Amino acid sequence: MSLKGKAALVTGAGRGIGRAVALSLAEHGASVVVVDPGMGRDGRGTEDGPAEEVVAEIRAAGGDAIACALPVDDYNAAAEMIQLCKDGFGSVDIVVNCAGMLRERMIWNLSEDDWDAVIRVHLKGHYNVNHHASKVMREQKSGRIINFSSDAWRGSVGQINYAAAKGGIVSMTRGLALELGKYGVTSNAICPMAATRMTLNDGVINGMKKRLESGMISQARFDAMTNMPGPEYIAPIVTYLASDQAQDINGRIFHAEKGRIGVYSEPVEIQSIYKYEGDGLFSFDELADAVPKSLMGGYVNPSPAEKTE
Ligand SMILES: NC(=O)c1ccc[n+]([C@@H]2O[C@H](COP(=O)([O-])OP(=O)(O)OC[C@H]3O[C@@H](n4cnc5c(N)ncnc54)[C@H](O)[C@@H]3O)[C@@H](O)[C@H]2O)c1
Repeated sequence: MSLKGKAALVTGAGRGIGRAVALSLAEHGASVVVVDPGMGRDGRGTEDGPAEEVVAEIRAAGGDAIACALPVDDYNAAAEMIQLCKDGFGSVDIVVNCAGMLRERMIWNLSEDDWDAVIRVHLKGHYNVNHHASKVMREQKSGRIINFSSDAWRGSVGQINYAAAKGGIVSMTRGLALELGKYGVTSNAICPMAATRMTLNDGVINGMKKRLESGMISQARFDAMTNMPGPEYIAPIVTYLASDQAQDINGRIFHAEKGRIGVYSEPVEIQSIYKYEGDGLFSFDELADAVPKSLMGGYVNPSPAEKTE
């Protein structure tokens, strides 16, 4: 498989998964815009240089790359980075949205700023980059968009902001596939699991210990989280989805980790109750009867109230 002649833009490519993806795309022949302003893990502060360092690595291996220190959460900056890719390499064939940060708090401690910052970088960041990229890709009649969600999109403790953003990215990915498919542009998302500063540091490990001790997570989950392999295991599926061979994979959500790549089911309505007679308006009593019996038969609350003595 070769990506020779393709122009790629990878956000958050100075570290972690984005870096591994940028290196892999370049190794397979793509020219890469390495986007990373070097943000702190919580999105505060910046540190010089991660984008330049990755560009130097790519060039040292004989590849072609440009560094870009613009932030994805700025609409105009996203336009500039897409233009940089077009001006520098002649097209925008592949966009990989890896930029990310975390602010973990339970909902009652989650400040408005923590909410806004995470939604802005992840959800709006994906919109910003994909919006500007889509204009070029639609004209080109080709393109590959690979978004980064998280298994947390299904709901996650202490990460309401992050899970909501990642759920939004799942919905965005599926919508982009429908809107852009006819123009030869595919859109897929990855839910990765890999050791990066986002997932493995002292703060995270201590938090996991507390969750284990309080029974919020199992020993198996704790072991999996604290022995995670590196981000290089995520890059191959991204590189494959970026290739011409993956032209008919569109709108799907993948899980990726060392030794396992999975694909999520399509969301479907699994059970319904009906009322066609009269005005179709369910009464409270009808629902009180039909919901436990039919609509929710066999259902178990995943988070029941604690019993008080
Ligand atoms: N590592 C995992 O196991 C895991 C799990 C689920 C989801 N993810 C997702 O994968 C993606 C990559 O995460 P990672 O683990 O490599 O994290 P990381 O912290 O190692 O790297 C993220 C990079 O994004 C950059 N960034 C942050 N804010 C930015 C902004 N506004 N504009 C541009 N760049 C910005 C940072 O500077 C950093 O270099 C993220 O979207 C993350 O949510 C990771």
